[in-house]
Amino acid sequence: MNAAEHYNYRVVRQFVIMTIFWGVVGMSTGLLIASQLVWPALNFDLPWTSFGRLRPLHTSLVIFGFAGSAQFAASYYAVQRTCQARLYANALASFTFWGWQAVILTMLITLPLGYTTTKEYAELEFTGALFMAVVWIAYGIVFFGTVMRRQTKHIYVGNWFFGAFIVVIAILHVVNHLAIPVSWFKSYSVYSGATDAMVQWWYGHNAVGFFLTTGFLGMMYYFVPKQVNRPIYSYRLSIVHFWALITLYIWAGPHHLHYTALPDWAQSLGMVMSIILLAPSWGGMINGMMTLSGSWHRLRTDPTLRFLVVSLAFYGMSTFEGPMMAIKTVNALSHYTDWTIGHVHAGALGWVAMITFGALYHLTPKLHGREQMHSIGLVNAHFWLATIGTVLYIASMWVNGITQGLMWRAINEDGTLTYSFVEALEASHPGFVVRMVGGLFFLAGMLLMAYNTWRTVRVGDPVSQRLNARIA
Ligand code: HEM
Ligand code: HEM
Repeated sequence: MNAAEHYNYRVVRQFVIMTIFWGVVGMSTGLLIASQLVWPALNFDLPWTSFGRLRPLHTSLVIFGFAGSAQFAASYYAVQRTCQARLYANALASFTFWGWQAVILTMLITLPLGYTTTKEYAELEFTGALFMAVVWIAYGIVFFGTVMRRQTKHIYVGNWFFGAFIVVIAILHVVNHLAIPVSWFKSYSVYSGATDAMVQWWYGHNAVGFFLTTGFLGMMYYFVPKQVNRPIYSYRLSIVHFWALITLYIWAGPHHLHYTALPDWAQSLGMVMSIILLAPSWGGMINGMMTLSGSWHRLRTDPTLRFLVVSLAFYGMSTFEGPMMAIKTVNALSHYTDWTIGHVHAGALGWVAMITFGALYHLTPKLHGREQMHSIGLVNAHFWLATIGTVLYIASMWVNGITQGLMWRAINEDGTLTYSFVEALEASHPGFVVRMVGGLFFLAGMLLMAYNTWRTVRVGDPVSQRLNARIA
């Protein structure tokens, strides 16, 4: 029996395709809202296409559609390979695929219509959120069911990260969504005031920590050693990394609420925990990077590996920047400015999207019995478009953020503000243009990936058929 028959690759293939699909749709929405900040006329004076409604749509599509589908695909693939067992419960696995797509589709319809809880990254109204929880529990059953039927003695560290991601996201989602429904489409949070804010940012920060980091570290622990063809640099470090990361992340949420009604001690605790978080984050990055020792020369010829390594560099960069921004006095300057947006996309484009591209370029040929991607040249072009796009995005947001922060706090001798808000906005315009160009580069790279993937998996492609016959 070959690998394709032994393992359930069907659901992995489905999630890979939808990762690319939601990536294109979510990033196109990102590009549209970036363009709206350059040309406000693009709001079209319609409620459905206004910045206020499309922004949460962008974040939901890229986080849950793109990053979510990528983690389903990677975890389902890695858990089968490392446990040498077929995915538990075919029908339930299939349900997680269709259920998750239904959740994203619900976001795509309801958010532009204005149905929202108003809680960032948790905007889906009660009914949708409840269904999302059901799909997530099914995911947990499939994943842990597969771990239980493993043929290997120990559980590979990548699966620990995927497992923690599944368990913690379930807890965060349920606690933050506790609400009293008043109709099918409207509910009110059970929390109020400062408690509501605290619960929301405990959720929000851990959405970053677990939805945009822990699952992707699972991806790193599987795909980096695979692509380099060497074991992970230090297995011991990976265990320390795991426990330190999951213990610390959960405390850092208050750094989103500096100088608010949250008790001062809670803000300071969040700040301290965020600074300590630098250590496990960098431990993980170094573990991934050092796996390449002795194989660095491969970066010259292997663009897939380049994606994986550059993603780790951006991970290191954003996890250095984050703790700095968590320091109260630094946050007094950065909060509300584009600096935060730059930090977000250093993580989102540089880390989350880049490691996903690396993993998908590794996976796609394997899932379809091909030797390699249809065109390595296009993978290379994608790499440069993504890297240049990310750098343009974050550099322009740093400049904008610091400009905004300094202009807002500048005061004249008599205590009046030196600049009006509109003056700071005008000064930000060139940065908005550069960010839009960066987004265009990034999206162009995504489109190349979509084309390359289509050519790789296309049934009947003569080159692919020949390769396929040879592999079979
Ligand atoms: C072509 C690529 C992308 C472009 C052009 C883009 C553009 C934007 C824009 C214009 C905003 C609103 C900024 C503001 O309110 O001032 C935004 C917010 C956001 N984007 Fe993106 N984005 C892209 C890709 C991504 C990806 C791949 C992710 C996640 C995996 C992501 C996650 C977010 C998040 C979390 C926010 C909210 C940030 C906050 O509230 O501080 N974006 N994006
Ligand atoms: C050690 C790791 C990190 C720390 C301590 C950290 C810290 C911070 C801080 C202090 C803020 C600004 C809060 C504010 O002023 O409102 C922030 C915002 C944010 N960070 Fe990080 N960060 C880290 C890593 C990351 C990574 C790797 C990503 C993405 C993959 C990320 C995504 C975000 C997002 C989405 C926001 C915006 C939240 C919002 O206001 O909507 N962070 N982070």
